[in-house]
Amino acid sequence: MSDLYDAVIIGGGPGGYNAAIRLGQLGKRALCVEKRGTLGGTCLNVGCIPSKALLRVSELFEESKDHYPALGIKTNGVTFDLDAMMAHKDKTVDGLTKGVEFLFKKNKVEYTTGAGAFAGGNKVEIRANDGTTRSVEAKSLIIATGSEPTPLPGITVNEEDIVSSTGALKLKDVPKRLLVIGAGYIGLEMGSVWRRLGSQVTVVEFLDRITPGLDGEVAKNFQRILARQGMVFKLGAKVVGVDRKNGALQVSIEPAAGGAHEIIETDIVLSSIGRRPYTQGLGLDKVGLTTDNKGRIPVDKNYATATPGIFAIGDVIEGPMLAHKAEDEAVAVAEIIAGQAGHVNYDAIPAVVYTHPEVATVGKTEEELKAAGIAYKIGKFPFAANSRARANATTDGFVKILADAKTDRVLGVHMIGPEVGNMIAEATLAIEFQAAAEDIARTSHAHPTLTEAVRQAAMAVGGWTMQM
Ligand code: FAD
Ligand code: NAI
Repeated sequence: MSDLYDAVIIGGGPGGYNAAIRLGQLGKRALCVEKRGTLGGTCLNVGCIPSKALLRVSELFEESKDHYPALGIKTNGVTFDLDAMMAHKDKTVDGLTKGVEFLFKKNKVEYTTGAGAFAGGNKVEIRANDGTTRSVEAKSLIIATGSEPTPLPGITVNEEDIVSSTGALKLKDVPKRLLVIGAGYIGLEMGSVWRRLGSQVTVVEFLDRITPGLDGEVAKNFQRILARQGMVFKLGAKVVGVDRKNGALQVSIEPAAGGAHEIIETDIVLSSIGRRPYTQGLGLDKVGLTTDNKGRIPVDKNYATATPGIFAIGDVIEGPMLAHKAEDEAVAVAEIIAGQAGHVNYDAIPAVVYTHPEVATVGKTEEELKAAGIAYKIGKFPFAANSRARANATTDGFVKILADAKTDRVLGVHMIGPEVGNMIAEATLAIEFQAAAEDIARTSHAHPTLTEAVRQAAMAVGGWTMQM
């Protein structure tokens, strides 16, 4: 076969592999280049999937130990086997990454293992792990090289006792003490995993709140609930150094604005202060491309970079670093390359923190609406008043709907509570369809379900909540 493709995609994560599959479906000859050795990118290998596997098993452990007795289930002496938990996680990852290879075959996508780099024009040079190289050409090139953990100056991650999320997913023992830097998605999810398994978890956050970007009221409740579970928060603080002494880590912490430092002793440090786009070794200069001040590749609304024929999607461009956002862009760019009208609605991209309770959000927050000067109405409903949540004994949290004051159009939905990660799909669909809050309020919801809380919150926007 010739080495001229319709499209070569560099990176086999949710952006790259979905673009390749969609191009295959649209009859294009696509080649996906991935250097990791397995497909699925950060998400399947060291991100979404392994973290959710550990979140699930650690939650089951904690529930059976601490909550089942109150429900009449006797579980004296529940213990766990960390190796078996890790084996479950690894097996899940293995199955899913191989599943992507199967999908490639099914959709006639070619896949090669190796690092891709631009070689000028429409050429990509692929260096395989054994050192051999191969040159390919394509009418369209897609950059989907993703992101990597943002390093913290002065802190050297060794993935043993000072870890990024990757090391936090494969600790060999449960640390007695875990210090997390950054109260964002990774810090709170991985912090929850290890706290449930027995670690004392301290979270040091630079800002005076957790989960920046999420609705402020939800974030406040979230912090209160996590603190009740035993997580200790040090807000408005920064880590300025880590030393090793007496077989432990001595972490120096200062107020964010500067001032006297204190030392916290810990066994493991997890650095999770964000992720940054990854373009190392890609040879952007060979094709006249540069990155912006955050390391992102600038693109237009069709994901076209400044160089004709080269596109970029996923974590390496602007926007939330989420797997489904990368997937949405993958489908859009493939359709655009195939001459169709691909499009992503950035107002309707949900986000979920998979702790217990979960936090889920879509659309604008109150803070964003205020800043934009948009008049809005609020409808809220607590899970404590939802019959299913009471039967399940999971009553923490609430649903909050923000709707346009004049038109009633749903602008944002923010939830904290049981299973809200699944329930956000309804709110996302409402925003995608430009629904009014009243549309949700007048849609039948099965009883007794947690989703009734969404309906009741929508009724509350109109001032006629029925169950409270
Ligand atoms: P990536 O998944 O990073 O894939 C890029 C791929 O490109 C990598 O496999 C890399 O090896 C490869 N690559 C890079 N350069 C080259 C090159 N030159 N040649 C060949 N290959 C190359 N998001 C969610 O939506 N939900 C979650 O629950 C979630 N949980 C997460 C948990 C953790 C711990 C982490 C770290 C992230 C999580 N994310 C989650 C974020 C999600 O993983 C990313 O948003 C998503 O993977 C981005 O997809 P991508 O295809 O843009 O990049
Ligand atoms: P994050 O951006 O979610 O959170 C980083 C936190 O660190 C912020 O609260 C920030 O204020 C704080 N911070 C920054 N510098 C600091 C410093 N010097 N000292 C103390 N705190 C500091 O980033 P995180 O948790 O690393 O995750 C990266 C990204 O991966 C997320 O933004 C998200 O896009 C994705 N992700 C998504 C998940 C999901 O969808 N459930 C789960 C895990 C990751």
